[in-house]
Amino acid sequence: MESNAFVMHNGIAVPHPGFGTCKIPEEDVCGTVLRALEVGYRHFDTAALYGNEVQVGEGLRKSAFPREELFVVSKVWNTERGYERTKAAFEASLERLGLDYLDLYLIHWPANRKQFGDEAENINAQTWRALEDLYAEGRVRAIGVSNFLPHHLEALARTARVLPMVNQIECHPGWLQLPVVEYCHEHGIVVEAWSPLGRRAVLDHPVLREVAEKRGMTTAQVCLAWLLGHGVLPLPKSVDPVRMEQNFHAEAVLDEREIRAVDALAPMGNCDDPDSVDF
Ligand code: A2P
Repeated sequence: MESNAFVMHNGIAVPHPGFGTCKIPEEDVCGTVLRALEVGYRHFDTAALYGNEVQVGEGLRKSAFPREELFVVSKVWNTERGYERTKAAFEASLERLGLDYLDLYLIHWPANRKQFGDEAENINAQTWRALEDLYAEGRVRAIGVSNFLPHHLEALARTARVLPMVNQIECHPGWLQLPVVEYCHEHGIVVEAWSPLGRRAVLDHPVLREVAEKRGMTTAQVCLAWLLGHGVLPLPKSVDPVRMEQNFHAEAVLDEREIRAVDALAPMGNCDDPDSVDF
C-alpha cells in the first residue's frame, strides 16, 4: 500500500504507520516521541487513559516539526462518556498535550449493554454528539470511534449527523475481526489496528516465522505487512530505535496465499470482546 493511502471520508489523509504510545514508561515517553519523529513517524496515538498526554505533547513540542505536519490522536475514556463530560475531557486532553486542536478524537470504547442495558445506545449517541460538535467547531480535524463492532456502528448511525471516519480496533494475527474490518471498509471508515503485534504473543508463531524467513523480514514486519494487505493501518509501539525503524518500513508485500495462511491462525493475544468488557 502506498504512503498516505489511508484517506478519511472527509478527504484528510492519515499518515501511516501511526506510532502507538500506550504502556511506554512515563520517563521514556518524551524521548521516545522525539526518536519516533526522527525515524519518520508523524502520526501519534495517545489517550487520556494512557496517562502520558503531557509527555507526548512535550516530545512533539520539543521537536522542530511544524504542527501541521503532525497527526495527533487522543480518546475520551469510558468514565467521561456523555455530552458535557466528553466536551470537558476533550479540553483536558488538549491542555495536557499543550495543543490547540487535535487531528483525530475517538470514543475509546462503546458503552455496552452488559454494563448499561438499554441506556448503552443513548450514551454512545450523546458522546458522539459531543464529538460532532467539536468537529463542527473546528476543534478537531476528524472524529471516530475505537473498539466499535458493526452493531455499535449501526446504532450510532441512527442518530449521527457525521459518520465516524475511523474505527480503531484490536487487530493482529490471531485476531483479525474480519467482519468488523469489512463492515468499516464498506462504509468508508478507515480501520486502525491497536496492538498490531498482539503484544508480542504472536511473534514466535511458526507460520509467521516461515513467511518472515522466506521474505527476509522480521515476524513483526510480517504482522504489519499482513495488516496493510487487509487495508488496515497499524499503530505499532516500540521504545527500541531498531524496532521502530523496522516497523516504520513495513510494506504490504505479502501475496494472497501468505495472507490467507496468517488469516487462519487460531485466536491469540488480548482478544477483548467490546460487548463483554467491564471497564
Ligand atoms: P519494545 O517497545 O521493547 O520494542 P503491540 O504493539 O502489539 O502492543 O506490541 C508492543 C510490544 O511489541 C512491545 O513490547 C514492543 O517492545 C514490542 N515490539 C515492537 N516492535 C517490535 C518488533 N519490531 N519486534 C519485536 N518486538 C517488537
